[in-house]
Amino acid sequence: MPASRRGSASVTLPTGQTLAFHSHTRSSEDDDLPHATKKKMADHLRKYESLFTLTPQRMRMIVEAFKESLETGLAKSEQIVPMIPTYVFGWPTGNETGDYLAVDLGGTNLRVCLVTLQGNGKFEITQSKYRLTEEQKQEDGQKLFDFCGECLKAFIDLYVDAGTIAKESRLPLGFTFSYPCSQNSIDHGELIRWTKGFGAPNTEGHDVVKMFRQSLEKHNVPAEVVALTCDTTGTLIASHYVNPKTRIACIFGTGCNAAYMERVGDIAKIKHLGIPDDAEMAINCEWGAFDSFEHENLPRTKYDQIIDESSNKPGEQAFEKLISGRYLGEILRLVICELIDEGVLFLGQNTYKVEIPYSFDTAFLSLMESDPTDELLMIIGIFSHFFALETTLAERQFFRALAKLVGRRAARLSACGIAAIVSKMGYLEEGCMVGADGSLYNKYPGFAERIHEGLHDIFGEKGRNIITYHAEDGSGIGSAIVAAMTKQRKIAGLYPNL
Ligand code: BGC
Repeated sequence: MPASRRGSASVTLPTGQTLAFHSHTRSSEDDDLPHATKKKMADHLRKYESLFTLTPQRMRMIVEAFKESLETGLAKSEQIVPMIPTYVFGWPTGNETGDYLAVDLGGTNLRVCLVTLQGNGKFEITQSKYRLTEEQKQEDGQKLFDFCGECLKAFIDLYVDAGTIAKESRLPLGFTFSYPCSQNSIDHGELIRWTKGFGAPNTEGHDVVKMFRQSLEKHNVPAEVVALTCDTTGTLIASHYVNPKTRIACIFGTGCNAAYMERVGDIAKIKHLGIPDDAEMAINCEWGAFDSFEHENLPRTKYDQIIDESSNKPGEQAFEKLISGRYLGEILRLVICELIDEGVLFLGQNTYKVEIPYSFDTAFLSLMESDPTDELLMIIGIFSHFFALETTLAERQFFRALAKLVGRRAARLSACGIAAIVSKMGYLEEGCMVGADGSLYNKYPGFAERIHEGLHDIFGEKGRNIITYHAEDGSGIGSAIVAAMTKQRKIAGLYPNL
């Protein structure tokens, strides 16, 4: 009989469900199933360490190339990092008021909100969430917008009946559509490309506001789309509304991106609009596209290449594919599969479940890293429950270390993106706050600390002046504030056509 011990742990799954494990664990190496020795696992780990570790020097090189890409994107249209002018002019005053609707078509959910801005940086929000199915992400684009229209209609009807929304009112609406769209005014945006695994046909190259308005009309929805925003722009504005030291906003979730406020004089590609140079406009960087197609600057491993080549958008979103929640679990799974193929892991066990692409949720990485037990019971639970695989302690220690490498690389690359904006805008000396949101930032243990450590490695002591914090809800509150700012701007007759 192999030596064994008993233990228990519980895991909260991405679905919110809690699983308790009472595990009969294999704790020694002389077990009945063949497996790699502790020493062999340590040798493998060293190999992955060198593949996934970013030195400060390498990070500084990435920052320089990143900065150049940001500048090129501001100078010319249709560049790899598109640096999208958002037509959100300057910061909110904090005194925006009124009732607004916000619709947020995100990577995982559709969210519909009623936001009451109360002035003085205060607000109230009521919302409903609808899970998007994988089929919806691939079916005809107009159908997707019709679904948004239907959900919004049901939401409005509910709150009209409850007396929260006045009957016969037609509320202004901010539409958060977090995919790269090229904009020539605030209520127009042509989808450049789907990201985050979406592929709905008949949408790329089309004006998504026009499509959404068609769906609202079809379902008789009493709402007026006044602004199209991206989650990062919304996050920038919402975070500044409550914390005026905020200069940059980032999303680290299913996808990743950043926005910041730019001097119009430094956005050469919109010079023809005749906006004064000292006006300010938020830029939606769409930095997930950094290094796309050319792949000259980022340290891609063969696992990253496999993910890219087997994705629905090969070559695209190169930076995002190394960082965002959609891909981290898959990177780790590919390493595990390689070791299965090499005969190192799970000999004699049926591995078909872990061989299914995208079966390894990024939430598992967070759980693995935060397992507090000596026996790593959570990791036992994950492998036995989801993949019907037994693990030894040495293997579990290896998986945890691997998760750490993949998560740390993502955070350090994120730091490179932030550093590029900081250095371009000259924020280092004075320091600045960076509002950040998204499942990775909020739930991955140590993600924020690793970004800060990365900023320190890039900039030295001064890097400590750049502080990320958990941002305000950009796609709900932020979108409503942008709608309010736009209404005020248009009433004041400032750039009424933009
Ligand atoms: C999208 C961005 C978005 C980011 C975070 C990316 O895939 O292109 O528009 O801000 O994901 O949601």
